[in-house]
Amino acid sequence: MSDEVVDEVIQKVAEAAPHISSGLMHRREYVGEENPSDEKMMEADVWANEFFKEKITSIDGVGEFASEEEHEITDCGEGLSVAIDPLDGSSNIPTNNLVGTIVCIYDERLPCSGENLVAAFYILYGPLTTVTVAREGQVNEYVIEESPGDDVDLYMASEDIRIEGKNIYGLGGNKAWFDDVEDLESELADDLKLRYGGALVGDFNQMLHHGGVFGYPAKEGYENGKYRILFEGNPMAFIAEAAGGASTNGERSILEVEVDDIHQRTPFYAGQKELVQRVEEHL
Ligand code: AHG
Ligand code: MN
Ligand code: MN
Repeated sequence: MSDEVVDEVIQKVAEAAPHISSGLMHRREYVGEENPSDEKMMEADVWANEFFKEKITSIDGVGEFASEEEHEITDCGEGLSVAIDPLDGSSNIPTNNLVGTIVCIYDERLPCSGENLVAAFYILYGPLTTVTVAREGQVNEYVIEESPGDDVDLYMASEDIRIEGKNIYGLGGNKAWFDDVEDLESELADDLKLRYGGALVGDFNQMLHHGGVFGYPAKEGYENGKYRILFEGNPMAFIAEAAGGASTNGERSILEVEVDDIHQRTPFYAGQKELVQRVEEHL
């Protein structure tokens, strides 16, 4: 039963992706309200959230829906819990840089730790629109191809992705980091190429394919980190670990962190196993 529900969540979100991508153009203004994380909301954030919410809450077998853009959890019956970042990196839209959608599925009522995840996936709106899915210990990337009507076809682009290389690093934010991160960055810069694009989905995706490590450290103003565990930290940690990599909040796997509030933040690092161990040694 839950496999079919996971299949349907992935299919419905993938079907929506071309519509979201083509709808960003006229929704790049800020709406003057803030989300539960006190961040300005772009019209595209609000619109994408409503669009995905309607698709996901109407799926039989989805019992809860939680969004980065909403204060409360929506109870929609019995079944799996879906958490979503409807538009990740929305500040990248005016400059036409990469943005994405992050979705993860828990078999526990929310909020809960990432150990309850059964699947996690993201849409990357780039030169191609792709969906990268982690479930049952495997990570596969598909290109989303529009077909007549609202249907889409998913073409396997990368099967059973593994994070093995040590080629790139990226650290979000700026030098407001706490001291130990500056040392970490100079050590990573000695061995790896810097790649940072300002949206978690794009930065994580290039790390997944090239091999390396990506993080958004705790810093002044974001003492508990910037990424929300439920909508960003857990899904990306789940994907990294399913691809043979690792994640950490500086001390342990992100998936082991107890989550008491649905908008709880975390310092975030994920990537090739040994590089993540080096991060933990530094912090
Ligand atoms: P969101 O647009 O969902 O709030 O996510 C934005 C996040 C993440 O995608 C990105 O890595 C980070 O914010 C960028 O933060 P800075 O602008 O501080 O670099
Ligand atoms: Mn985000
Ligand atoms: Mn977002």
